[in-house]
Amino acid sequence: MINITKTHLSDPIKLDKYEVINVTKTYLPDRTKLDKYIDKIYSTAWLTNNGQLVKELTARLEEYLGVQNLLLVSNGTLALQIAYKALGVSGQAITTPFSFVATTSSLVWEGIEPIFVDIDPKTFCIDPSKIEEAIKPETTAIVPVHVFGNACDVEKIEKIAQKYGLKTIYDGAHAFGVQYNGGSLLSYGDATILSFHATKLFHTIEGGAIIFKNKKDLEKAKLMINFGIAGPDSVTELGINAKMNEFQAAMGLCVLDEMDTILEQRAEIWSHYENVLKDHVQLQKRNSQCNNNYSYFPVLFESEGKLMEVKNAMNAAGINPRRYFYPSLDTLEYLEPHTPQTESRDIASRVMCLPLYPGLSINKIEEIIKILNM
Ligand SMILES: Cc1ncc(COP(=O)(O)O)c(C=O)c1O
Repeated sequence: MINITKTHLSDPIKLDKYEVINVTKTYLPDRTKLDKYIDKIYSTAWLTNNGQLVKELTARLEEYLGVQNLLLVSNGTLALQIAYKALGVSGQAITTPFSFVATTSSLVWEGIEPIFVDIDPKTFCIDPSKIEEAIKPETTAIVPVHVFGNACDVEKIEKIAQKYGLKTIYDGAHAFGVQYNGGSLLSYGDATILSFHATKLFHTIEGGAIIFKNKKDLEKAKLMINFGIAGPDSVTELGINAKMNEFQAAMGLCVLDEMDTILEQRAEIWSHYENVLKDHVQLQKRNSQCNNNYSYFPVLFESEGKLMEVKNAMNAAGINPRRYFYPSLDTLEYLEPHTPQTESRDIASRVMCLPLYPGLSINKIEEIIKILNM
């Protein structure tokens, strides 16, 4: 048959020669162990609804992270939405324009207007000195992000929140395991959320968690993630379905067992990048009070043009770094026009995260560095 057009297919890429390197690669833990958990699921036929593995993962994560009142949910976006609902956030919430789109879209989805406050161009986190001037009578919460696992100025933010009676919900999607001043960074605020998406440092395929300050908020959220059902014949809350299932929990339990290896390998790559690149590109200024969980390695170029030049050269070599975060969220088309957040727009136009994951070979790392220094 002769059609008007025919898709042009170039010669297939030879995979042995051109191994594709993405910004991250999902960590797959020991298969035998995972199989044992799956055998358990098969023997009980209990697949979801707060099963044994979800309970076990909850307890193990609370211990590993050094936190209390942790609730596992089906993903990080619903973790944000449930946290806003459980804490009664409404009207307007102050947030950062430099994040993954879910930080903003979750607010809009819940009918809360995001009010952007610009970032500190060095730390990439919300600039606390600009928060107070954005507070209005409609403001009920602050939603900052620990960008790339770098702690926000939590003390200043807490002080402002207390002064104006606002709730604080930290988007800690990148902050798994980060310690701050000797305790868990995740214990700050009325709630902190985590994402356990497959691309994250610790993952449950899809998944997330909310860590609440108060037990009563945890209890409310527990009902909310299960349709508001309090008992066999009783629905006491407006709810949704945001439960984590047993297969997700099984993956999490296996990945958790291998966190030491994951962190060790990431730390090695991260430090290698830092040593070689610190004099060539600008790096994120890290908060000295928190440790590094090596979740991302962002580099800042002198211009968007230079970024695109390097990105194109990497792509041609089968390496896919990611413009992350891009675009700045104050440019989202579905929002009412906002005052341009100039620092965030500038950083978003020049920042790129380099490939970073256990198993990334030294040859590839050297190739990435060579292209970067061209
Ligand atoms: C900063 C930030 N917030 C929220 C999310 C949403 O998490 P999830 O993908 O688990 O829904 C992500 C995910 O990439 C993220 O990076």
